[in-house]
This record gives sequence, structure tokens and C-alpha cells, in this order.
Amino acid sequence: MQNNQTPTFSLKSILYSFILSPRIYIVWFSPEIYTRMKKSISRKDFIQQVGIMGALASLLPSNLLAGETAPQQVRVGIIGCGSVSTQYLPHLSKSQWVRLVSTCDIIEERAKAAASKYSVPNYYTSIEKMLSGEPFDLLVNLTNMQEHGKLNKLGLEHGRNIWSEKPMANSYQEGVTLMELAKKKQLRIWGAPAVVMSPQFAYMSKVIQEGQLGTIAAAHGHYGHLGPTWSAFFYEKLGGSMPDLAVYNMATLTGLLGPVKSVVAMLNIITPTRKVDNRNSPIKVEAEDNSMVLMEHASGALSHVQSGFNYFDPYGHEGVGQEKPTVSIWGTKGNMHLIGYDWAPTGVDIATETHEKTRRVVMDTGHFVWQQGATAIAENMAKATDPMITTLHALHVLEIIEAARKSQETGTRIPLESSFNWPLI
Ligand SMILES: NC(=O)c1ccc[n+]([C@@H]2O[C@H](COP(=O)([O-])OP(=O)(O)OC[C@H]3O[C@@H](n4cnc5c(N)ncnc54)[C@H](O)[C@@H]3O)[C@@H](O)[C@H]2O)c1
Repeated sequence: MQNNQTPTFSLKSILYSFILSPRIYIVWFSPEIYTRMKKSISRKDFIQQVGIMGALASLLPSNLLAGETAPQQVRVGIIGCGSVSTQYLPHLSKSQWVRLVSTCDIIEERAKAAASKYSVPNYYTSIEKMLSGEPFDLLVNLTNMQEHGKLNKLGLEHGRNIWSEKPMANSYQEGVTLMELAKKKQLRIWGAPAVVMSPQFAYMSKVIQEGQLGTIAAAHGHYGHLGPTWSAFFYEKLGGSMPDLAVYNMATLTGLLGPVKSVVAMLNIITPTRKVDNRNSPIKVEAEDNSMVLMEHASGALSHVQSGFNYFDPYGHEGVGQEKPTVSIWGTKGNMHLIGYDWAPTGVDIATETHEKTRRVVMDTGHFVWQQGATAIAENMAKATDPMITTLHALHVLEIIEAARKSQETGTRIPLESSFNWPLI
């Protein structure tokens, strides 16, 4: 599959570059971007496209053409004001690129409380009311996993770009349809997680790309705890530990080692009933709470991700104090271990044939936090630049999760069809 998501945004970017904002003009003509453009289109095509874009500029709203600068703030609407919104809202509310316009939750008190706490001017109790209410540019979907496909589709149909918590859709095919809908409507859709944005990921990717580890043979990732206690959806059909937890390691390992060709998995349920805060009686667990997924990368490397809701974990939901490796990579000339979780990394241990003693590097995580995805996307939208997180990567991870379920059902190895532009760094 080709990366068919870039042109929509690039068109807007080039329009802004040439017509509206001198600052963005510089962004577009940074050497890296110019090289990328040179690779993807010939000079003649580029000149032709710029000509076409000049003509298209006449279609832009006149206030934009008359203005001296591109729009600097992205208007954001948040849907789903539960647990994760308490992590997103503080981050979004501090961003100079974001204007929080509305909150929405089917539980009115939650939408109202979130709006009040973060001085958001509007709150709604349904997506329909939100979409027909105060206009905004980016819908940030923080609802139950099972709602994502439906709500993201409605958002796109109503002209909104989307940042979705994982998964971005409830099946791989639904994800492809959403991406195509976005393209048709000249919009974008992106999905969590944001693990590829950490400095530790950047370092590990660079080490691999430079060949410091030699030929990569194997890798492993794990993430688990005793399971969320607040909502039933994590344990219902289309919930489960893979879209909630394994998704991080899958994004990290595919981001580092490249696309996966096939998957073999074993999944099961260790705890058949659970007590959760939003149900009066214990619920039946329907989605996997224990998973082992083997991935064959196109490069030949084999990797393994284990996740579950039955892991005793003394580090709590925030992962504070986790000093052990959770992602490991082994090659013919070296090995490397990410310390802490990939969504909250604190360093990388590395040993190579030229420096056999393991040393710890990249202990500064800078400004990276796992909940920065929507803020980063808003900044990219405001600056008309392309984010590092790509739709195709999120879709690929979604296909891996689906393939793991098929593998468990059929007892067979499942080939994948999707891919994404790699390396990311
Ligand atoms: N909680 C975390 O720490 C965390 C971390 C990372 C990612 N996530 C992801 O974030 C998403 C939400 O998880 P959560 O823990 O915040 O769950 P939650 O149950 O605490 O919150 C979900 C909220 O969405 C609302 N909602 C459900 N359907 C809706 C609809 N159709 N319209 C409007 N509102 C609706 C619910 O009423 C609830 O308030 C999930 O995809 C989860 O995997 C959660």
C-alpha cells in the first residue's frame, strides 16, 4: 500500500508556504523537506503543481488570503472526558497551538466538569450536538475503544481532522475506509500512540539504521499490569490487552525494525470475571487479557510482544520507578534495551562489539510525554508540517492486532497486507 495520506496536507502546506506565511516558507524549504520533495516529484511536476496550487489558492477563504499569516491556532474539540482526558487536557491547554473549543461526553457532568476546569467555552452530551455546535478543526477522540470507528467516521463526515486514542478504528478494514474518507474530504486522521516521538526511540532507530548492532535478528517487548479498574469496555469485545497495552510495543518494534510480514499468536483469558467501577455486578471478560504475539518483519528479524491484564506491577499506572528494560533488540554486533516503558522511557542500555561493556545513554527524556500526541498533531496542523506519527503506521499496528486474533482463532500464521514508510528516523 502506498502512503496516500501526504498529498492532502502537503497541498495546504505549499499553499500556505507560498502565499500566506514567510515563516512556513522556511519550514518547507528546510533541506530535509526539499530532499523529500525532490525524491517524490520531478522539478517539472513540482513547478506544475505549484502552478495548480496558485490557481487553487483562489479557492481559499478571502480572509485567509488577505491575512499576513497562516492560522496559528488549531481549534480542538475533545470527545470522551474520562480517565485519559485528565492527562490530555492539561497538556493541550498549555499549548500555544491549541484553542480548546468544546468538550463532549455522554455523561454530562464529565463534559461540564472538564470544560469548567480547563476554561473550555462549550460542552455537549453527544457527538451530533458537538459537530453541529461551535466549529473546530481537530476532533480528539478519547472515548471507549469500541466507539472509535463510529465517532471518527462521523467526525470526518463533518469535516473534522481526527486524533484518535488507540485504536483509530475497530477493524483494519474500517481503518482503511476511514483513511480513504479522510483523503476524499481533504482531511487527516491519526492514531495513538506517540511512542515514536521519544528521544530514546530516536536514538535506538539511529543506532539500528547506522548498523551499529549489525544484522538485527530478534527483539522483544512487554507491557502489563493488573488491568484498568474504572471501565468495563477494556474487557468487552474489541477491548483487550492488545489494543490497550501491546499496541505501544507493537508501534515501537515496527517503528524500529520495520513493517511486519506475518504474525503468529496465542491469546487467552486468565481472569474470566472482573469487578469494575462503572458496573454494579462483576462482568464477564470477553476480550483477551493475556497475549503472546510473534512478528516476522520484512527485514527477516523476528520479534515478540507480550501483554496482559494479569501482571503484578509495583510501578502503578504511571510506571514511576520502572528501571528495568521493557524493549530489547539483539543484532550480530550489539544489543540494546530500552529502560522503563516505551511510553515513559528513562534511558537505553547498549553494548556493541566495539564497546562491549553495557552503558546507559539517553537518560534525558526532554519534553516527551506519552499524552502529547494530540498536542503535537495540533502543532503540525498549525505549522502545516507533516507529523512523524503516520496513519499508515497506526493502521499497520491495527492489522497486526487483528492478525493475532485470527491466528489464535485458526491456529495458523497470518500474512499481512499493510505497510508504512520506514524508517521513521
Ligand atoms: N486511562 C488511561 O490512562 C489511558 C492511557 C492511554 C490511552 N487510553 C485510551 O483512552 C481511551 C479512553 O480510555 P479511558 O481510560 O479514558 O476510559 P474512560 O472510561 O475513563 O473514559 C471514556 C469516556 O468516554 C465517554 N464516552 C463513551 N462513549 C461516548 C460517546 N459515544 N460519546 C461521548 N462520550 C463517550 C465515557 O462516558 C467516558 O467518560 C481508550 O481508547 C484507552 O485505551 C487510556
